[in-house]
Amino acid sequence: MSKESKEAKKVMEKVVSLAKRRGFVFQSSEIYGGLNGCYDYGPLGVELFNNIKNHWWRSMTLREDVEGLDASILMHPRVWEASGHVEHFTDPMVDCKQCRARYRTDELPESGACPNCGGKETFTEARKFNLMFRTFVGPVEDSSSVVYLRPETAQGIYLNFFNVQTAARQKVPFGIAQIGKAFRNEINTKNFLFRTREFEQMEMQFFVKPGEDDSWFEYWKEQRMQWFKDLGMSPDKLRFNEHGPDELAHYAKTAFDIQYEFPFGWGEIEGIHNRTDYDLKQHEKFSGKAMKYFDQEANEKYIPYVVETSAGASRSFMAFLVDAFAEEQLEKETRTVMRFHPHIAPINAAVFPLVNRDGMPEKARTIVNDLQKRYRVFYDDKGAVGRRYRRQDEAGTPFCITIDSQTLDDQSVTIRDRDSMEQIRVTDTRIAEYLSDKLGM
Ligand code: GAP
Repeated sequence: MSKESKEAKKVMEKVVSLAKRRGFVFQSSEIYGGLNGCYDYGPLGVELFNNIKNHWWRSMTLREDVEGLDASILMHPRVWEASGHVEHFTDPMVDCKQCRARYRTDELPESGACPNCGGKETFTEARKFNLMFRTFVGPVEDSSSVVYLRPETAQGIYLNFFNVQTAARQKVPFGIAQIGKAFRNEINTKNFLFRTREFEQMEMQFFVKPGEDDSWFEYWKEQRMQWFKDLGMSPDKLRFNEHGPDELAHYAKTAFDIQYEFPFGWGEIEGIHNRTDYDLKQHEKFSGKAMKYFDQEANEKYIPYVVETSAGASRSFMAFLVDAFAEEQLEKETRTVMRFHPHIAPINAAVFPLVNRDGMPEKARTIVNDLQKRYRVFYDDKGAVGRRYRRQDEAGTPFCITIDSQTLDDQSVTIRDRDSMEQIRVTDTRIAEYLSDKLGM
């Protein structure tokens, strides 16, 4: 292993261990040995996750031309025939005859040797493996009751195109946004939250007049890249990657990924696709229901084209987690700090009494009670104040408010900035205003 990949592995190990220790992410069903490809979000994780999803939701729906939707996970099985997932949503798979390890053929080393047991040329013929999870509705488990756990949230949006358009009195161009779980029975899960079997997506389908798709595609591509940057993701670790003709999904005319440079290399966090009229046309064909939209202004009927922005919420979460992680060499110690953008940090502010006497805890509690009406605040009076700062650095808390002896004289507190570690003094009546300014809420 090269020096760089050893270093990268170490960083990933540190992030995963911090994620567990501080309650961002736990392995699912850990006490039973874990369930591969499934994770649970702990107290800090669920706050960070919700903040990311809320920011995405607001960025999409606080505009006049995008409506929200929350469609069900189980849908009519014909949906997945129409969408092409029953036929095309497969990975080629082989088994090692010697040790029975299973691989996607595109992940096999060029040497042709099994990465697990080293056996040479021991693989079975490649066969197609459909990634959709199947289950049954009702008590009878036969082919007539098969349904699938959705592998993408997008189809629920297409099925509701006319419902939303009519109910919200929208006109093309407009979009529908949705956040929700998706499931894929990945052959090999890997790299922590990067490729899991259960994950969340934040998808928006923007319906446009054919011919206007290319300019809307450009617009959304830029908007989506900017969203990651606005939430503090390092710009030099973000890039576009265009899909070549042989990489395009069965529904796409043009596709760009937004990639993030993880410690293990560049990986897609979001796909922006021009899906043309493929999906609506397929649903028209399979359901027998007309999917043509009447454009009053143009006085014509057409099936709209779709520009899709499809972000992995869980993968974005992981990118934000990795991007925030930093170790800084201070004079006497190494400081681990999660530099989350203040808008997504799980805890908004921590409040400490410097010592547990002279009325400081009482004053600190009063401040906590006041701030808690608006913010997620953490009270901590355990141990030396320096250690309390470190604990909040690891949680990514942008501001720590300390009540000291001067507070009791002049009602001022110190506010310490997580990144610069600098402290300023502010009158207690101005704390909420200070936080509001910095946190944008
Ligand atoms: N509706 C289009 C669609 O689903 P995709 O490129 O297959 O497109 C979109 O997936 C995003 O969903 C990806 O960019 C990724 O962030 C996330 N994603 C896909 N498979 C995933 C998996 N197994 N685990 C975690 N995230 C996944």
